Amino acid sequence: MASKTVLITGASSGIGAALARAHAQAGATLLLWGRDDQRLDQTAAQCRALGAVALTQSFDLRDVQDFVARLAAADAATPIDLAIFNAGLGGTVAKEDFAEAPQTAQAIAEVNFVAPVAGASALAGAMAARGRGQIVLVGSISESYPLPMAPTYAASKAGLRLFAEALGLRMKRFGVTVSLVSPGFIDTPMSRKVTEPKPFLMDADKAARVIARKIAAGARVIVVPWQFTVVRAFTDILPRALVRWVMSRA
Ligand SMILES: NC(=O)c1ccc[n+]([C@@H]2O[C@H](COP(=O)([O-])OP(=O)(O)OC[C@H]3O[C@@H](n4cnc5c(N)ncnc54)[C@H](OP(=O)(O)O)[C@@H]3O)[C@@H](O)[C@H]2O)c1
Repeated sequence: MASKTVLITGASSGIGAALARAHAQAGATLLLWGRDDQRLDQTAAQCRALGAVALTQSFDLRDVQDFVARLAAADAATPIDLAIFNAGLGGTVAKEDFAEAPQTAQAIAEVNFVAPVAGASALAGAMAARGRGQIVLVGSISESYPLPMAPTYAASKAGLRLFAEALGLRMKRFGVTVSLVSPGFIDTPMSRKVTEPKPFLMDADKAARVIARKIAAGARVIVVPWQFTVVRAFTDILPRALVRWVMSRA
């Protein structure tokens, strides 16, 4: 970890803030990006107390051109060793609505898929030119399920899963590793909005420590908490018709 530059999007809350703390140590430069200045500053202060240099930027990454320009500028100033695309937007369709509002669907798709895909592509090129680097995309266990209550969220994460796999295959020969994090239920402001049962709910700092350890080991897929590794593997081998049948009753 020493003398590493680590970028984390969505560092102002939940898993992103916890990942920042998990990577904070002397010699680490943390680029902490989010929208909420006050919460971002709080994360930065915690990381500085742990010995890291922490630099913040607050902006909306739905302006993808601006996001990619910021990435290029940050990478030119301090070459990024590890980029964690973690920012995400949850969302379920209200029971009384027929379908997701188009603006909501667009926002979820942009934050969860368009921005990380554009950002990861931009950094992958720069990392490949250096012959080293690590890209981490934070998806969700929901990538495996056609969730009728969250169609865009599930689809954005399913897309991210395939993107991570494809980009990883492409970048291998250039010395760049790509990992996908698939969280189950982690205790954060996002999951606290979920009213349904949250099996195996895990503390964010505990999850972040596991994720950081597995990133350092170069794991391709990181599922937290571990119980969802079994759920995910089982879902992958189930006939899709059965998954659809179960989901249609959710
Ligand atoms: N918690 C879970 O149980 C769970 C499960 C599966 C997957 N995940 C995934 O884990 C990741 C982190 O989620 P979390 O639970 O930590 O959620 P969270 O506490 O709501 O944090 C989301 C982060 O994303 C940032 N963000 C959202 N929209 C943004 C935008 N337009 N521009 C810039 N930043 C934006 C937020 O910034 P501001 O707060 O500053 O606006 C915040 O830092 C997400 O990708 C989520 O889908 C979480």
